[in-house]
Amino acid sequence: MNIIKVNDTQMGGKEAFKIVKADMENGIKVLGLATGSSPITLYKEMTNSDLDFSNMTSVNLDEYVGLKPDNEQSYHYFMKEHLFSKKPFKNSYVPDGSNPDAEAATKAYDKIIEENPIDLQILGIGRNGHIGFNEPGSPLDGTTRKVSLTESTIEANTRFFEDEKDVPRFAYSMGIGSIMKAKKIILLAYGEAKADAIAATVNGPVTTDCPASALQNHPDVTLIVDDAAASKLN
Ligand code: F6R
Repeated sequence: MNIIKVNDTQMGGKEAFKIVKADMENGIKVLGLATGSSPITLYKEMTNSDLDFSNMTSVNLDEYVGLKPDNEQSYHYFMKEHLFSKKPFKNSYVPDGSNPDAEAATKAYDKIIEENPIDLQILGIGRNGHIGFNEPGSPLDGTTRKVSLTESTIEANTRFFEDEKDVPRFAYSMGIGSIMKAKKIILLAYGEAKADAIAATVNGPVTTDCPASALQNHPDVTLIVDDAAASKLN
């Protein structure tokens, strides 16, 4: 894994943007995108840039089950607010959390991923090493699935909701197998709360206990980390 150390999230956004820009200049067509706090500075760089995304396709990692796209806590809404309203893509896909039929929703999303192979995937990482909503114990070769969120993820996400009981308990998430098919991956991690997960991702065994450790088997992964997130790397 290639590791880029940065001073702060602003610099992390700039470093990630450089890669996105260079890859777009080299003709990539499909970006895999994440929500959460980690990619926000990258999305700022993208929206402030003169890059044109109108020929690009985006495929997001995940969405809460039960939230409609116009729900302010939905990942559809997040993406619109942080990126798509300012920089429209030709096509933007996010799993359909409003579809209660998990089988249909996840199959439809796998088809989308198959038809739009991801050139560059942006990832954040959970404190427990999750990528997408693939929590510890998830199959390392999985495709899109309905997943139950762990208590630690629910707790981490509570900050975005008025009440902990409003935090959705399920999500549709791209599987780790689907993520691993992306040609290139950038993982962004900032802050001390991510230090254990980053250490396990880089130095630990490849194990379902730390879903991001699967990235050790990917040929082209760049971690962009601040000092705090990198503090437990040897
Ligand atoms: C979001 C996602 C999650 C987040 C992770 C880190 O689409 O897939 O895996 O990347 O929970 O979230 P932040 O960046 O908010 O710390």
